[in-house]
Amino acid sequence: MSKAPNSPHAGQVSIDLGDRSYEIQIASGVLDSPLAWQGLPRAAAALIVTNETDAPLYLARLQASIQPHYTQVHVCTLPDGEAYKTWESLQLIFDALLGHACDRKTVLFALGGGVIGDITGFAAACYMRGVPFVQVPTTLLAQVDSSVGGKTAINHPMGKNMVGAFYQPERVVCDLSTLSTLPARELSAGLAEVIKYGPIADMAFLDWIELHLGDLLARDPQALAHAVQRSCEIKAWVVGQDEREAGIRAILNFGHTFGHAIEAGLGFGVWLHGEAVGCGMVMAARLSQRLGLVDAAFADRLTALIARAGLPTVGPDLGVQAYLHHMRVDKKAEGGDIRFVLIDPPGSAKLLGAPDALVAEVLQACCLA
Ligand code: NAD
Ligand code: GLY
Repeated sequence: MSKAPNSPHAGQVSIDLGDRSYEIQIASGVLDSPLAWQGLPRAAAALIVTNETDAPLYLARLQASIQPHYTQVHVCTLPDGEAYKTWESLQLIFDALLGHACDRKTVLFALGGGVIGDITGFAAACYMRGVPFVQVPTTLLAQVDSSVGGKTAINHPMGKNMVGAFYQPERVVCDLSTLSTLPARELSAGLAEVIKYGPIADMAFLDWIELHLGDLLARDPQALAHAVQRSCEIKAWVVGQDEREAGIRAILNFGHTFGHAIEAGLGFGVWLHGEAVGCGMVMAARLSQRLGLVDAAFADRLTALIARAGLPTVGPDLGVQAYLHHMRVDKKAEGGDIRFVLIDPPGSAKLLGAPDALVAEVLQACCLA
């Protein structure tokens, strides 16, 4: 049984964080509704941050939709990709804000996937010591995870998401219809973060994903709506208890310790974030199994689902030492000791250490030799 409550309203999830609370709106076509933006902080100007892939698809629609609320709507279009989640991209946003003489009430809109959301959120946290921002996620991964919860960051060449801030958006507006243009590989990457919520918090949701994976891969609108809604409900429940990851929020990083090592080890952008997380969940499940926290049947079941979702289940051969090196700079590490999110029992998770020798065995079993 999951402890994460269902939202009383289909298409709406609340994040309860006192004076930083906000709503997630989930619907097909919501991007075009001027009502979606009602009640946001009043401002003369808005800046939409997007990238060269999203802009031709959705920029004109967002501009038309928010136009009634602002005197000026500016645009900053960044290059596309994880490799551009950098200081240079952040600087381009500040150049645009200052170039247009944007004041401290200016509202930033992040139109795109998790890369745009994370950079824009960090820019909003920094510009004039903080301006409001709105997440308009257009990938499955961003709709079920990265747009929610206020983690913002850029990468450093030596580590993933190493420079950033906790900074909550004013609102999250998920237009499910944008998922129709998503490449199949990106849809699968998003499914990794959907699958994640089952083992850590809600085994009934894992059962549902197993049953409806074909519908999700076929982009059935009802299946996608349920997957986004339930994922956001679980994330809202976790973040509502632990906004700044002093404890339980770490469970949202299931698969990410191994996954971030894969991303950093191969070079950012070679594997998609969701692909690395999918494979990382296989490794973390196998480590849980070796520690006696779950049985082989559970690890096999999760591995099979991840494979059916079109995600890699065998890691790249970076070498055990390279994996350990990257995992020691993970934000969850303490004093150089790596801590993993492990399943114990299925449906809940814990942050635990493990002997290097055991981790090495898991890596040897899970990576291409
Ligand atoms: P992404 O932002 O790179 O988007 C994936 C690709 O899809 C890009 O090429 C993008 O231009 C394109 N795209 C976006 N929307 C599209 C659409 N509707 N149609 C066609 N193409 C579209 O990747 P992502 O998977 O969305 O996000 C991954 C990033 O999110 C990583 O940097 C990861 O670290 C971060 N993340 C952050 C959090 C958080 O809590 N802040 C959580 C999970 C992941
Ligand atoms: N995606 C991990 C978190 O939001 O905490």
